[in-house]
Amino acid sequence: MKKDTTIADLIENRYGIPTNTGATMAAEGELANILNHRTHRRFTEDPVPDEILDILLAAAFSAPAKSDLQQASVVIIKDKAKRKAIADLMPAMPWIATCPILMIFLGDSRRIRRICKMRDKPFANDHLDAFLNAAVDSGLVIMNFVRAAESLGIGCCPISVVRNHIDEIAEIINLPNHVFPVAGMTAGYPVDEGYISLRLPSSINVHKDSYCDENLPVEIDAYDQRRDARFSIPTEKQRLTETYGIANFYGWSEDKARQVSTTERDQLANYLTKRGFNLK
Ligand SMILES: Cc1cc2nc3c(=O)[nH]c(=O)nc-3n(C[C@H](O)[C@H](O)[C@H](O)COP(=O)(O)O)c2cc1C
Repeated sequence: MKKDTTIADLIENRYGIPTNTGATMAAEGELANILNHRTHRRFTEDPVPDEILDILLAAAFSAPAKSDLQQASVVIIKDKAKRKAIADLMPAMPWIATCPILMIFLGDSRRIRRICKMRDKPFANDHLDAFLNAAVDSGLVIMNFVRAAESLGIGCCPISVVRNHIDEIAEIINLPNHVFPVAGMTAGYPVDEGYISLRLPSSINVHKDSYCDENLPVEIDAYDQRRDARFSIPTEKQRLTETYGIANFYGWSEDKARQVSTTERDQLANYLTKRGFNLK
């Protein structure tokens, strides 16, 4: 980071909108690191020492947990055959095969159910909230892992695509009932600085006293233009052109609308039900 950079500079860089918010604060410490976050998908061959991984996981599992139930777990993939089996499922993400760290973060509603049995108590919360709580706990641990890793110059890319192959992944890593993959995690020392991905502005996602999205169409158009000015999605990266054609202006919203216009991962409820969850 350049000397004299302020928090306002980092906010401006993140949102693409000039601001004085944070203009008197130096860009340093955890706040600056958070504003500077970027996902990395290309890593050097340098291994991440086991002790460093242990430290990152100790930090990751320091995340807050709903009711202190601590319903997250992780499987570190070291076995070469398992790594290959997982990477082969997702050839579009070639760094999964080679990145120094590959892990699967899990929502874990099994432990508390076992503890109820151990303590001879009923588990009286077998409903959708049990799934949601474990998923949220795992998400918070994932976020803490990313934060901790970035603080040591280690780059990360979570992998939700593991859920496109949820049955196969569960088999490879022997998941029992009431445990489900939330996201994979790939990590290592990045080959480059990466880039800041522009976020939606607070006028879209911060509401005062009541929810209001009446300006969404105008705000999204403006966001698309800001993103495009920073980084135009090349024509060859347009999705589903055989269905939707080539757009003259292909912004974030067109890309995301196309992305979710085909069904993906609709087998999740099925997986969870098979694994013993009650989703009512
Ligand atoms: C839970 C989660 C799952 C993700 N899954 C994938 C994935 O499967 N493949 C991928 O390339 N990136 C994945 N990402 C990275 C996002 O694409 C990335 O965070 C987003 O584009 C914003 O970029 P930034 O993190 O650099 O700001 C995932 C991120 C999160 C938080």
